[in-house]
Amino acid sequence: MSLLDSVKSVFGLAEEEKELYLRPLKSSDLSAVLTIEKMVYNFPWSDRIFKDCLTLDYSNLALIKRGELIGYSILSIAVGEAHILNVCVHPEHQRQGLAKFFILDLLKVAKKKNAETIFLEVRPSNLAAVSLYEGLGFQQIGHRKDYYPAEGGREDAVVYSLDLNPNVT
Ligand SMILES: CC(C)(COP(=O)(O)OP(=O)(O)OC[C@H]1O[C@@H](n2cnc3c(N)ncnc32)[C@H](O)[C@@H]1OP(=O)(O)O)[C@@H](O)C(=O)NCCC(=O)NCCS
Repeated sequence: MSLLDSVKSVFGLAEEEKELYLRPLKSSDLSAVLTIEKMVYNFPWSDRIFKDCLTLDYSNLALIKRGELIGYSILSIAVGEAHILNVCVHPEHQRQGLAKFFILDLLKVAKKKNAETIFLEVRPSNLAAVSLYEGLGFQQIGHRKDYYPAEGGREDAVVYSLDLNPNVT
């Protein structure tokens, strides 16, 4: 074993050497983020929206696999409430448990920043997201009428919440 390997085995790997890790999202990530955003949504967020998210006091994370950005999340936290505004995983990396891994981390971030409840909106037609959040214990608490743009009109949002106190340690 080389000296470097021994050091790594004692102290652990540096973030950038890990196979898969989360780190804060940076403005230099925006081009990779927008590429994924346009692949996964019919109505993607604009460059301007992501830039605004980076200037606000949000918890924005990048999911990196072998050096490549393959997912991202935008989380706002204020006065005891957290709000998941966006979570995406690159289509080539979906169905591998990565969104679950991501969201479990977001719950911990929210709890650490003293949020008691976490909320999100989702399109009822987004069956993958509905199944993801319901599988993690989120409860439907209401609807927001005509919340999203949709082909030929608007689509309602389903609002979900999760109480962080009993569910996250
Ligand atoms: C929704 C999304 C984030 C899921 O990412 P993912 O990494 O594929 O999800 P995971 O592999 O962690 O799956 C976790 C659970 O989500 C559900 N799920 C994920 N993809 C699904 C699909 N295509 N169909 C049905 N259920 C799905 C399942 O319940 C799954 O659990 P299981 O694998 O035990 O069945 C991903 O499809 C995506 O980026 N979609 C576009 C953006 C989006 O809609 N974001 C959510 C709104 S903020």
